[in-house]
Amino acid sequence: MTDLTPVTFTATDLDALAGHEGRVAVIVTPEGKLEQSARRVNRLTKGAIQRFVDSAAFEKVKAGQVTTFDWPVGLAAESLDVICLARNHSVEDARKAGAALGKLRGGKAALLAADGARRVAEIVFGLVMRDYDFSAHKTDAEAKDTGVSIMCSKPEDAEAAAGPLMAIADGAFMTRDLVNEPANVLTTTEFANRLADMKDLGLEVEVLEEADLKRLGMRTLLSVGQGSDSPSKVVVMQWKGGGKDDAPLALVGKGVVFDTGGISLKPAAGMEDMTMDMGGAGVVAGTMRALAKRKAKANVVGLVGLVENMPSGNATRPGDVVTSMKGDTVEIINTDAEGRLVLCDVMWYAQERFEPAGMIDLATLTGAIIIGLGHENAGVFSNNDDFCNTFLKAADKEQEGAWRMPLGKAYDDLLKSRIADMKNIGGRPAGSVTAAQFLQRFVKPETPWIHLDIAGVASVKSATALAPAGATGWGVMALSRLVADGYETE
Ligand code: BES
Ligand code: MN
Ligand code: ZN
Repeated sequence: MTDLTPVTFTATDLDALAGHEGRVAVIVTPEGKLEQSARRVNRLTKGAIQRFVDSAAFEKVKAGQVTTFDWPVGLAAESLDVICLARNHSVEDARKAGAALGKLRGGKAALLAADGARRVAEIVFGLVMRDYDFSAHKTDAEAKDTGVSIMCSKPEDAEAAAGPLMAIADGAFMTRDLVNEPANVLTTTEFANRLADMKDLGLEVEVLEEADLKRLGMRTLLSVGQGSDSPSKVVVMQWKGGGKDDAPLALVGKGVVFDTGGISLKPAAGMEDMTMDMGGAGVVAGTMRALAKRKAKANVVGLVGLVENMPSGNATRPGDVVTSMKGDTVEIINTDAEGRLVLCDVMWYAQERFEPAGMIDLATLTGAIIIGLGHENAGVFSNNDDFCNTFLKAADKEQEGAWRMPLGKAYDDLLKSRIADMKNIGGRPAGSVTAAQFLQRFVKPETPWIHLDIAGVASVKSATALAPAGATGWGVMALSRLVADGYETE
């Protein structure tokens, strides 16, 4: 597991500031006001920062931007990073400034001299999130033991404010590691083992094996995994931080550790990207980790369906009809539309067992959502406006793109099958919507439900605001925020 950048909080100490080797960062406002710690560093550097903010160059500097001075006079540091941040900055600006520092740091020890517990915490969060680096399979990776020191007036307050944010970063790192991991390493068994390890954090974790799934009647889920040598599993993670009788929020994730398409085989080009097809399960795992780490005062249950979609002599064929746990029969027209077959059984199980107050499923479900929304927004589908709006607000606060999409009977009609209760595909038009309609057939009318199609946002080819290229961890921040704002009670 990729470790969080070690961060230490200490009281301001001029000698330590002057003697720090590596990088030193300070904050000034867009109006050119120096924070107290910036004034100290200004004096040490014989007025370098003041000359900078008085210069014409500073007029072009925007909030959230970082300007670097190499080998500053008066400091042992190899560079001085001046962060421009307004006094009433947004959370987003502070995180972005931190991310810029994280990117600049390049594994070298950095020291941030700053004031204000809240803003320091948000900067540190941005820094740590952007500092993520998946080097598990790089044999020449340098040990990154150099951390970040934060020098501020009230180090205890800053550390306390950073605590819950570090829990979220820790969860997001887990999601990213799972999503980045190749499928020969992250088998269904390895995935389940990593989840079981979270028992140490106070989560209750159960692993349901194929025999259990058969007994429960999860035949659509099993039909996806039956062509693979890796056994299908469902893992249930419970966090009981809320009231004894409070119905939980249920998070359900698609965990296809590799999606070849099955007998409806995918083309070779780009198939390697299907290592990320367990992204929904990855977000559920990371969110449960974050909630446990920050000891959220809410009841949340995470369920993931772990399978591998492979062609073989034992694989499901196009045309096969299978019976779901709910009892509805599905004609499998295309074995590559497998995510919905996994989710429908786990969602049904989640409702039967937990009677959740709300249910959110996450899945890298359709290529069509990438055509519709690109890599900027996840597709959001819901049967409940209030629940949906609460989530959209949480996602917006955390700057994780999310855009609501429609549902409706006309789309549902596209799933009609001649010989079974439904087909598993609705055709090319509105492919993401018909996938969501399929799922909705397994949502009880009384369950407030949100489906998040994260195929476009789970893993991306270039860096985002808070993540390097690859797995983003999209959703961990928004879901943790949703729990904090909507479910946690004092
Ligand atoms: N895992 C894919 C969706 C996907 C595509 C995720 C690209 C991430 C990037 C899913 O199982 C799939 O294959 N969907 C098909 C559905 C079709 C057969 C109806 C698709 O999108 O083409
Ligand atoms: Mn598929
Ligand atoms: Zn898939």
